[in-house]
Amino acid sequence: CGIVGYIGNRNSQEVLIEGLKKLEYRGYDSAGVAVFTDKGLEVKKAKGRLAVLESQLGEAPLAGTIGIGHTRWATHGKPSDVNSHPHTDNSMKFSVVHNGIIENYGELKDELSAKGHQFVSETDTEVISHLIASLYDGDIVQAVQKAVSRMKGAFALGVLTEYEPDKLVAVRLASPLIIGVGQGENFIGSDIPAILNYTRDVYILNDGEMAVLTRDGVELLTLEGNFISRELFHVDWDLVTAEKAGFDHFMLKEIYEQPKAYRDTMGSRLSDDGKSVVLNEIKMTPEEVKAIHNIHIVACGTAYHAGLVGKSVIEHLARIPVETDVASEYRYRSPIITKNTLVVVVSQSGETADTLAALREAKRCGARVVAITNVVGSSVAREADDVIVTWAGPEIAVASTKAYTSQLIAFYLFGLYLAQTLGTQEEAVLAETIAALQALPEQVEAILEQAETYKAVAEKIATHENLFFIGRGLDYAVAQEGSLKLKEISYIHSEAYASGELKHGTLALIEEGIPVIALATQDALLEKTVSNIQEVSARGAYVIGIGMEGSPSLEKSVNEQFLIPGTLSLLTPALSVVPLQLLSYYASLARGNDVDKPRNLAKSVTVE
Ligand code: G6P
Repeated sequence: CGIVGYIGNRNSQEVLIEGLKKLEYRGYDSAGVAVFTDKGLEVKKAKGRLAVLESQLGEAPLAGTIGIGHTRWATHGKPSDVNSHPHTDNSMKFSVVHNGIIENYGELKDELSAKGHQFVSETDTEVISHLIASLYDGDIVQAVQKAVSRMKGAFALGVLTEYEPDKLVAVRLASPLIIGVGQGENFIGSDIPAILNYTRDVYILNDGEMAVLTRDGVELLTLEGNFISRELFHVDWDLVTAEKAGFDHFMLKEIYEQPKAYRDTMGSRLSDDGKSVVLNEIKMTPEEVKAIHNIHIVACGTAYHAGLVGKSVIEHLARIPVETDVASEYRYRSPIITKNTLVVVVSQSGETADTLAALREAKRCGARVVAITNVVGSSVAREADDVIVTWAGPEIAVASTKAYTSQLIAFYLFGLYLAQTLGTQEEAVLAETIAALQALPEQVEAILEQAETYKAVAEKIATHENLFFIGRGLDYAVAQEGSLKLKEISYIHSEAYASGELKHGTLALIEEGIPVIALATQDALLEKTVSNIQEVSARGAYVIGIGMEGSPSLEKSVNEQFLIPGTLSLLTPALSVVPLQLLSYYASLARGNDVDKPRNLAKSVTVE
């Protein structure tokens, strides 16, 4: 979910809607605002995209200069008007927007119900507004502090009360929240772009902190009520990067931004002579690197798929055993973490609750944590010991593209760094790998020049309901990402299979005409992959092969062949995923789907 709030002299409805548009990537099941009008605290909310609310507000505006807003990704209670935020208490004097989950809301709800409170929604948030109302004794700040002390879970809140109409109270406990500071006006937002149209000066709240905003100032407090003094953070990037720049969709724009993202992520991290990696952001001493016995890579979704490639890269280059795990599983399987375990968390947003929880678990067990993230100052970045920032720039489309490939680059850099510290590779191998890395941006450009050639096959795929991706080794890791991409935005069911495993069960599903996307970029495994391709062809599959220039041709074994430029086997994922991104994009377009905002998903999931 995303939250935004405003106190100043502008028409607050406009500021809130503008802010919510920037936050829609966090969820878009429903949206709502609460504004102080001359009638008091008025709420308007609606199921569906923000556009629904916007048009309702266009017809019947809420005139006022103080308000809070919300865009929802449903957790407790289905998407509906009544479950949308803001939520109020029975007196309608208190209004709350909330991002996160209140774990003990059932217990609090029973307690409040026993006192006569009546609830209209299924949400945990409604309980907060009632709880604050029940604890109010003339001071909203104290009421919020008392309420928060009763709440268990992870949340960020924005609170208004009609009793103190010149105050906006904000709280952060494990869900992101920033405060924008203007002249005679102040803002809250789940992230910086939400307020960047209005101010570049922000306070980033830490967990366990709150802010009290008036028109003329912002006070930062701990939840216990102690004042905090903090420097303002000045934002020096602009919103233009977050606009579509002439592309039909953010996803396509972001696919095309990959060469730049590769260059920026490599940036000054490669020495001028091209022989070594310079990762100054890793503060480990050589002795600490040598003491690493094993590595756990932990992440969710696409970032997890980058971790699958990361495992091969690190094991190959540095010969350290690596396990890759999805964050939501890792934390609860009591992983064996010793002080010699290095945990690498990967998160584009740096705010994914599952990943953050895994990071905290790893730290609790005494591990050192390296974060690979795209957001400087995110929760993951702040809590990790060392941070490798991927310089992909803001990623808006829910389906991740440039963030994934920048994560791959980060893994190549990190693998090389470990190898050079441990001396596990000859200097010539390091130099050859670095040279091949430096060639990647141009090679991606070459693939993108042919982007249109993927359209016809994508349109063919779009007429099917099931398909398969197969590959061996690193091709299998990329197949999993390709399959996820396709599912996310085209809603076509697909499965990624290790080519050699297909015959142990899944082959039963292959029938006449079913598309199989076969990745065959790993020279050493090529013959075996071709045998697997023949197994599916013999059963009628329509095979789309992705091979590599300079390798033996697949032409005779497949129905369609696409080639990526020649590179080292270890680096193929950074190229072979691009055709898969394009196939998914064009298949989604052919199906008439909302490419950038696929159903049921959110860009950043800040609940467990
Ligand atoms: C959400 C998104 C996915 C993303 C995952 C992890 O589920 O829809 O696209 O891969 O979160 O996000 P992160 O920001 O941690 O990389």
